[in-house]
Amino acid sequence: MFVGIGELVTCDLDAASDAPARAASAADDTRLGIRRDAALVVQDGRITWIGDSADAPAADRRINLEGRAVLPGFVDSHSHLVFDGDRAEEFAARMTGERYDGGGIGVSVDATRAASDERLRELVGRRVAEMRAQGTTTVEIKSGYGLTVEDEARALRIAREFTTETTFLGAHVVPPEARDERTAYVELVIGPMLEACAPHAKWADVFCEPNSPHAFTEDESRTVLEAARDAGLQLRVHGNQLGHGPGVQLAVELGAASVDHCTFLSDADVDALVQAANTTTATLLPGVEFSTRSPYPDARRLIDAGVSVALATDCNPGTCYSDSMPFVIALAVREMGMTPSEAVWAATRGSAKALRRNDIGGIVVGGPADLAVLDAPSHLHLAYRAGVPIARTLS
Ligand code: NIG
Ligand code: FE
Repeated sequence: MFVGIGELVTCDLDAASDAPARAASAADDTRLGIRRDAALVVQDGRITWIGDSADAPAADRRINLEGRAVLPGFVDSHSHLVFDGDRAEEFAARMTGERYDGGGIGVSVDATRAASDERLRELVGRRVAEMRAQGTTTVEIKSGYGLTVEDEARALRIAREFTTETTFLGAHVVPPEARDERTAYVELVIGPMLEACAPHAKWADVFCEPNSPHAFTEDESRTVLEAARDAGLQLRVHGNQLGHGPGVQLAVELGAASVDHCTFLSDADVDALVQAANTTTATLLPGVEFSTRSPYPDARRLIDAGVSVALATDCNPGTCYSDSMPFVIALAVREMGMTPSEAVWAATRGSAKALRRNDIGGIVVGGPADLAVLDAPSHLHLAYRAGVPIARTLS
């Protein structure tokens, strides 16, 4: 049992107590279903009771959180954790003006193919542990640095050891050795590669980006996504990252759960996302704009229009080698005009929705005890104390 919770962010509107909100933006706060001076009982990994600290029942073990804030564990719905090597020089070059176009992915493909299973497993484990240490309790992990039948299936088998949210991304880029045989590569992806990978994946994704010579056109992306859907996988899309393009419309047309990046959007794209708000979430990845020195997505435009918005890290060696959801929340607030409460919502409930999960991203009786605790009295401190390790998983 945890008592003395200064602020319990449930993301469950029905659970909010009547206590007046202390935060400056009280009205904004209400969406988080906040309870003050709360307690909760956890049994066998599930929440069995939520209430006021003063009413807490007797329990074998009683931990006083002394006014700290407790939130749903963060849901990181977009990451590429299965890779070896890094691309620090590429990052440094971008900081002096070099543009990102996806060409560096080939470097990570070479390093990942050369790594042993044990090495990849250890690297993924280390990254997942880093995430948990910062409050993340669910992570989606993509393949995409293997790009052969064997290497993609291996990446997914290893990812599967750490999460049920695994994503087949054989259509990340056309690998360097197949540069002159794009059609043959797409055939490989939708044929033997999909067959070998589908048993280990829940999702399929594609880097749909006509603005990169390495990524996939609208037609190629549609071919891959339809084949994956026919093989029983649910869909997600990398779209509209480097410029305007067809990614968002394609994701909506095919009923994808999420279209990720959404940096360059036309009015028609926003309209499509509004219409599809119950089906398709726009997942924003501001760590990418930070690490590629690019303009941030217009989160305000999306939220004000009624789009379903999520936040995730996109942790990968190219566009964002950070696995920190608190960092993403701080960027969303400082650089994308999201309120602290919108950012926390998007990093928990919003991101759960992007994974079509109703069982996570909130704190409710009967739900899993996937909890984050802050060494701070409120969720406002996540952005306010950016860069300070105040968040961790509570277990
Ligand atoms: O989401 N854009 C495509 N894939 C990753 C970057 C991968 C890389 O550069 O290694 C992304 O940004
Ligand atoms: Fe990505």
